[in-house]
Amino acid sequence: MKHFEFIKDLLEKRNIKHSFHKVSSLSIDEIVKSLGIKYSEGLSTLIFRYGGDKYVGILRRDDKNIDSKKLKKYLGTSRVSFASDEELKSIGFEPGLASPLVLDLLQGENKINKILIDESFFEMNKVICGSTSSELALEIKRTDLEKLIPIFERVDIMVPNERRQNVLNDTRKKRILTGDRPTGKLHIGHLFGSLMNRVKFQEEYETFILIANIHALSDNRDNPEKVKQSIGELLCDYYASGLDFDKSTVYIQSEVPETHEIFMYLSNFVSVQQLMHNPTLKTEIKQNNMEDSTPLGFFIYPTHQAADILCVNADLVPVGKDQAPMVEDCREIARKFNNTYKKEVFGQPKAHFGVPKNVPGIDGNAKMGKSLNNGIYLSDSEEELKKKIMSVYTDPNRIHATDKGTVEGNVAFTYHDLFNSNKEEVADLKARYEAGKVGDVEVKEKLFAAMNEVLTPIREKRREAEGKKAELVEKAVEGSKKVSKIARGIADEMKEAMKIEF
Ligand code: TRP
Repeated sequence: MKHFEFIKDLLEKRNIKHSFHKVSSLSIDEIVKSLGIKYSEGLSTLIFRYGGDKYVGILRRDDKNIDSKKLKKYLGTSRVSFASDEELKSIGFEPGLASPLVLDLLQGENKINKILIDESFFEMNKVICGSTSSELALEIKRTDLEKLIPIFERVDIMVPNERRQNVLNDTRKKRILTGDRPTGKLHIGHLFGSLMNRVKFQEEYETFILIANIHALSDNRDNPEKVKQSIGELLCDYYASGLDFDKSTVYIQSEVPETHEIFMYLSNFVSVQQLMHNPTLKTEIKQNNMEDSTPLGFFIYPTHQAADILCVNADLVPVGKDQAPMVEDCREIARKFNNTYKKEVFGQPKAHFGVPKNVPGIDGNAKMGKSLNNGIYLSDSEEELKKKIMSVYTDPNRIHATDKGTVEGNVAFTYHDLFNSNKEEVADLKARYEAGKVGDVEVKEKLFAAMNEVLTPIREKRREAEGKKAELVEKAVEGSKKVSKIARGIADEMKEAMKIEF
């Protein structure tokens, strides 16, 4: 405890940026897993006894092992061994609770004779190391840590730890980032287009779901109330569709201001002309009648979206096909940044389009949307659903039940294909429809039954969510803090690369 206070004081007095992370175990494997870091970001403080009664403190990057031959050679003695618990206590360490930041203190007190730092340490950026508290790991920048250990010997005594290096790429679960603009409730098009996929992904990936309220404001600037309300609606829709807020990190764009900082740094790697030619942006500017006066905030949103993605260094970005140019831009920007500063800050996020499902509106329009007033919402009551299904667009040329009908482009059958798990029933209805042997009413009643079966549990979960909206908002705020921390790390790496560190 005495040492922990010393460390806290030291960092505060010297005004050194750092953070403490809660850990529930001192095992390196556990810490790496729970903090989502790489072994190469972990640093252990090891104490050896040598040459009889001398002690040496060694800093070891956790993807490395000490080569004992090299160590012995360096120390000029064959008598080198790990300090025992008794020995550790005799020099003031609780066994298992060392920290690089007390080495200097112990050296000053003549309790240890040498501090050795391996070459590999000097390639580190962020360092996660011991804090002498069993519950907290310390995160600090390598360059800062280096300054706090003034007297050490720089050595080359490590070999790779094969096991850890082999899992290097696996230690961090692959990350997914995707999101929605909060402009309204979600409908069954979203359910098949993205929500179902996200629920599947959250088991396998570290999932981040972004509520892009800053983007929503860029074309709804005079309607902040709508954007705010829609955040609540989105949270309920997420919950209803099976997103687990403990597995997926749901967060709010405006609560991660590092996004804006990262956007600014990235903006040097995309040209105005490139944005002007972005096909999705072009279409949206036209749809919004913004051709003569495009708000800058709207114009730059594709690059801001690249910042969203790179904030967590996402590996996979599940989006609709319309977002392909955004992800493509993002990859290019990330590449250019890395190449310019000769530093692998970013990976190459990949777009994931899934299997596109065609979910037309109830009026037959190919797209479902609020402005078209043709949607079936996850929040719709059973009565609303029934009403909408009974009015669904079928075959306009079929007047009587005995007329031969067309299944192709018939929304009732498109929905049957999506929702009705009784494939025989669907095949039978289609055959009779084409032969003029079934009325629209039967087709629609069976459709309602099938859809209601799928949508009832969702509707019920949504009602439950509405009762605890405040809790869900709280979760999203918590999620934002987590993302903010990750993004801070990325922004700092960018700053270091760009030499804007002071
Ligand atoms: N532009 C996306 C949309 O309209 C929403 C979004 C914002 C997003 N930032 C993102 C999607 C980052 C994926 C990744 O749907």
